Amino acid sequence: MEFAGKYGRPLILGLAAAVFWTGAALAQGGSLSERIQTCEVCHGEDGNSRMENIPSIAGQPAFFIVNQLILMRERVRPVEAMEPFVKDLKDEDAVVLANHFAKLTPRPSDEKIDPSLVKRGEALSVARRCGSCHLPTLAGQEQIPRIGKQRVDYLVKSLKEFRDGTRLGADTNMSVPVVGLSDADLAALAQYAASL
Ligand code: HEC
Ligand code: HEC
Repeated sequence: MEFAGKYGRPLILGLAAAVFWTGAALAQGGSLSERIQTCEVCHGEDGNSRMENIPSIAGQPAFFIVNQLILMRERVRPVEAMEPFVKDLKDEDAVVLANHFAKLTPRPSDEKIDPSLVKRGEALSVARRCGSCHLPTLAGQEQIPRIGKQRVDYLVKSLKEFRDGTRLGADTNMSVPVVGLSDADLAALAQYAASL
């Protein structure tokens, strides 16, 4: 938190970028299979979460994962459940973990998908230009997450946090796209993204 207040988010993003490029070279081939297994307990064996409100991380852009792990470690985005796993995480290990999960195939959860909500969500996604940052397939890029095939419950939870300004350390780029949307709109967007 103090780190965020003092230096702000742009520096952290810059740091994450630097770590990503140097770490990728340094850490290649390093095995962290034990650490990966601890992640799988919550995020799913193949990186696809089966647990409520826990995001899938399979197929996320590696840069997004590194960035979020560092934001969590520095307590810019404090996540209690993640604390023990990021506390002593070395930058180069974050890169290895990110590269591992980025390579896994994202799979939709078995939550119920409502076709009429999907249609409404698609129209909202076009109107709000979600694809301009998350890409038209919503697969994400660089520091922007994949939201396609993400869990519905986690999407709803995080969209509400962005809209209501309650996600600590959130990228302010995500405030404008959801401004003024109702809970029903967010549910429709979540259904659409999850259905892709
Ligand atoms: C005890 C359960 C648990 C374990 C173990 C765990 N996580 Fe998490 N993780 C969570 C929760 C819960 C969140 C979502 C926090 C939120 O709602 O903002 C999260 C969020 C994340 C995110 C951000 C994803 C996003 O879409 O915003 C990443 C990346 C991540 N975890 C990676 C890991 C890695 C890598 C490991 C292993 C080193 C790990 N997690 C271990 C529970 C866990
Ligand atoms: C101007 C670029 C931009 C636009 C437009 C945009 N996003 Fe985002 N989005 C981001 C960034 C950057 C993040 C990462 C947030 C962070 O790091 O705090 C993000 C994060 C998210 C997350 C969190 C996912 C996770 O795994 O934690 C969701 C959900 C999301 N966006 C949905 C949407 C939807 C739905 C729309 C359209 C209504 C949209 N975004 C439009 C840039 C954008």
